[in-house]
Amino acid sequence: MKILNVANYEEMSSEAARLVEQEIQRRSNPVLGLATGSTPLGLYRELIEGFNSRGISYRNVRTVNLDEYRGLAKNHPNSYYQFMNKNLFHHLDIREENTYIPDGLARPVEAECRRYEALIDEIGPAHLQILGIGTNGHIGFNEPGTPEDSLTHCVSLAESTRKNNARFFDSPEQVPTHAITMGIASILKSDKIVLLASGTRKAQAVKTLLEGTIDTGFPASFLRKHPDVTLIADQEAFHLAK
Ligand code: F6R
Repeated sequence: MKILNVANYEEMSSEAARLVEQEIQRRSNPVLGLATGSTPLGLYRELIEGFNSRGISYRNVRTVNLDEYRGLAKNHPNSYYQFMNKNLFHHLDIREENTYIPDGLARPVEAECRRYEALIDEIGPAHLQILGIGTNGHIGFNEPGTPEDSLTHCVSLAESTRKNNARFFDSPEQVPTHAITMGIASILKSDKIVLLASGTRKAQAVKTLLEGTIDTGFPASFLRKHPDVTLIADQEAFHLAK
């Protein structure tokens, strides 16, 4: 794993944007794997800035998102579909039909998971996958206990994850109990992975990622088996690691 120890959130975001833009500029049909949550918001602001001021076009870019809440329609204000439109896609020249996110309402859910995995294989896998990390070591919504060979599947969200994500909802009860997520094996198919971590809240997770054992108890640990992972973490996120 390559490690970039940066000063703060802004530097983490601009270093990540540099890697994404490099990838876009060196390929004719780039595929990006994207994440939601607070961590990549600064990266997305940088990418929008790159589009507006540095002429980086997304006309030929396709994106696959990691996950979506189960039971939320695309137009629900808390769906990840809306999150991506609001925080990134609507500010770029990307074609809507080139952006892929699991359908949170599709039934049966198993068929949607199979469809999404086949789509990842068909258009991707991602040349570069962006990841955040949960305080419990989840990547995507692969909670502790998820097997290494998991593909896209429906998960029951850990209580700690629902609690962490309650800040985006009007009340904690509104946080969905389930989500569709790429599996660990789906994520590891990507050519390159860039994992972002910022703030003291992520310090224990970064320490466990770098120093703990590789096992299902801490899903992000499987990233250590991938040949091209870059961890970009700021001082606060690194402060417990040796
Ligand atoms: C989001 C995702 C999650 C988040 C993680 C960290 O699509 O897959 O794994 O990356 O929960 O969330 P934040 O960035 O809000 O701390």
